[in-house]
Amino acid sequence: MMKHKFTKVGRNDPCPCGSGQKYKKCCLVKTDNAPGRVKAEYAQKYGIRLKTPADIEKIRSAGNLVIGLLDAVEEMVRPGITTEDINRLVHDHTVDRHATPAPLNYRGFPKSVCTSLNEVICHGIPGDQVLKDGDIINVDVTPILDGVYADGSKTFFVGTPGPDAEKIVRVARKSLHIGMSMVQPGNTVGDIGWAIQQYAEGEGCSVVREFVGHGVGFGFHEPPQVPHFGRKGEGIVLVPGMVFTVEPMINHGKKELIILEDKWTAVTKDGSLSAQFEQTVVVTENGLESLTPFEL
Ligand code: MF3
Ligand code: CO
Ligand code: CO
Repeated sequence: MMKHKFTKVGRNDPCPCGSGQKYKKCCLVKTDNAPGRVKAEYAQKYGIRLKTPADIEKIRSAGNLVIGLLDAVEEMVRPGITTEDINRLVHDHTVDRHATPAPLNYRGFPKSVCTSLNEVICHGIPGDQVLKDGDIINVDVTPILDGVYADGSKTFFVGTPGPDAEKIVRVARKSLHIGMSMVQPGNTVGDIGWAIQQYAEGEGCSVVREFVGHGVGFGFHEPPQVPHFGRKGEGIVLVPGMVFTVEPMINHGKKELIILEDKWTAVTKDGSLSAQFEQTVVVTENGLESLTPFEL
């Protein structure tokens, strides 16, 4: 989880907009530069680094790789393969594209991808588990390409799903769709979580609280945090150039979780199924663009 830093910028400090000029010569006095002022304000107040069109172009390329990786995984998922097979595919395909898998060695994470089976909510570690007919598995990939990060995940059926699997995957997919539909300038981070929670709980499912969406691009996890629950109108106002993930984790049963001995794997406390879909989005002048676009 990221830590917020609230530091006050002095008149003679470097401007938080990143111009390289002193703050007093830059955004502090520029009345003709509304975007610059917003950039400085978001950096100073929230630690959020708004992205330029050139930054977004690079994150879009990393996002294309996310899609390529998830498509390749989808092709290979079937009963009988192991989660280590998925890890190897994601690792090799990422390196082939001259990119780096961000999960590998991130805070001690030992593999290149997260593979979360059935009651695993997130951060499952690939290994010798064999996929079997009726399982669901979330595969979460984050390549670093040309120095920038894009983050995305999908939950796949292994063979033929039962009714609970069918339901939780449907609700998780639509939760992401509804959360993304709230992304536009002037709405708040709270509007996203509120819409997801209303929908998912209305379907009799629950929303995980401990893990949230996050700013992404220059780093793996940047401010702001994007909860998948909450109240309308609450939190930071969305502005163009914000890049963050929406990635609701939805449980078939109760919302509570347990972290296993490996310190990573999060599982539902009640053993119920959990599913998740994730995309990286950028706030535009009119709404949003997904930088990891796939059908929802
Ligand atoms: N990709 C995850 C996310 O959506 C984070 C995984 S951290 C790891 O934020 F270390 F487990 F890879
Ligand atoms: Co993420
Ligand atoms: Co992710």
